[in-house]
Amino acid sequence: MKAIRVYEFGGPEVLQMAEVERPTPAADEISIKMYATSVNPADYIFRQGGNNVIRAYLKLPLGLGLDAAGVVEETGSEVTQFKAGDRVYGVPNFPGDGSYAEYIAAKANQFSLMPDHISFNEAGALPSCALIAWNGIVDLGHIQRGQRVLIHAAAGGVGNLAVQFAHAMGAYVIGTASAYNFNFLKNLGADEVIDYNSQHFEDVLQNVDLVFNASPVRDKSLRLKSVKVMREGSIFVCTHLDQPLEQDFLDALAKIGATATLVGGGSVTTYTSSLQGTTQMINEGKVKAVISKIYPLVEVAEAHRQSETKHVSGKIVLEIRKEE
Ligand SMILES: NC(=O)c1ccc[n+]([C@@H]2O[C@H](COP(=O)([O-])OP(=O)(O)OC[C@H]3O[C@@H](n4cnc5c(N)ncnc54)[C@H](OP(=O)(O)O)[C@@H]3O)[C@@H](O)[C@H]2O)c1
Repeated sequence: MKAIRVYEFGGPEVLQMAEVERPTPAADEISIKMYATSVNPADYIFRQGGNNVIRAYLKLPLGLGLDAAGVVEETGSEVTQFKAGDRVYGVPNFPGDGSYAEYIAAKANQFSLMPDHISFNEAGALPSCALIAWNGIVDLGHIQRGQRVLIHAAAGGVGNLAVQFAHAMGAYVIGTASAYNFNFLKNLGADEVIDYNSQHFEDVLQNVDLVFNASPVRDKSLRLKSVKVMREGSIFVCTHLDQPLEQDFLDALAKIGATATLVGGGSVTTYTSSLQGTTQMINEGKVKAVISKIYPLVEVAEAHRQSETKHVSGKIVLEIRKEE
């Protein structure tokens, strides 16, 4: 079967289409005939050789891809929740061979049945971002109806889902984005959008209950600036697992009785809650997958170049095979 492999770390040009052995599922795994995956910042970070947190896990030749949508081919002996022919979406094993491949084998408990009426390309755009956005907004952010939520990088892959989840749960949603994304975000449910290029959010906001940092840009000053807009008892959730929470930031939060946490990694509970929660919200028409552009797998290098601009609205999908 065909799969993308990286034989040396580097730029998009190191992404190679390779002929590799088709995987077979272990007892707790399913094998999946893949239709779609998508590009995440983690993919280009891994391709470049990783960061301090991830470097030790990356072995060459390296497979990439954190999202998977496809049809179950085979189930391992311990798998009871799926059968051959089920349309599923989820997050493949990490470390592992990734999902930029015609077939994958992955732990069944990291997958869910796809929402009822969406395409494989839409399903491929969702899982890992839904995992982070749901864990951040719902599981760790404990979002409540009527609360004020500030989402940094609201138009991105994680951000757009965070906006939709928070809006669906009755929060007042404020997002940061470039001005060209204002209408896009209002249509997804944002109540207020702040152009981070021309406005300082810390000068115009106050009484925020939850700050969710979903920016692909590592800006250390953003955490301390965010404290200025947070109310007593509020929560800061950050997607930057590679940036431990600094003591001065924690001290500033403690002064207002607020807390902070990092989101990512994913336990079995969080995979299950986020995928099932996302499926339910999509089936109820409250949330949708937002695709910026679909590339065939063979154009993966161009898809990475696009993602690395850090200005994609929604998701870049890699189509692995056409839906019949
Ligand atoms: N996807 C995952 O599975 C996953 C898992 C764990 C952690 N994360 C982390 O979550 C973060 C977000 O990932 P993502 O997939 O959502 O990234 P992304 O889709 O590449 O984010 C793109 C968005 O970032 C916005 N942006 C760029 N510079 C900004 C700035 N200075 N301030 C505010 N917004 C800015 C852009 O907004 P405009 O175009 O409007 O300027 C664009 O909409 C990353 O750090 C990633 O490592 C992701």
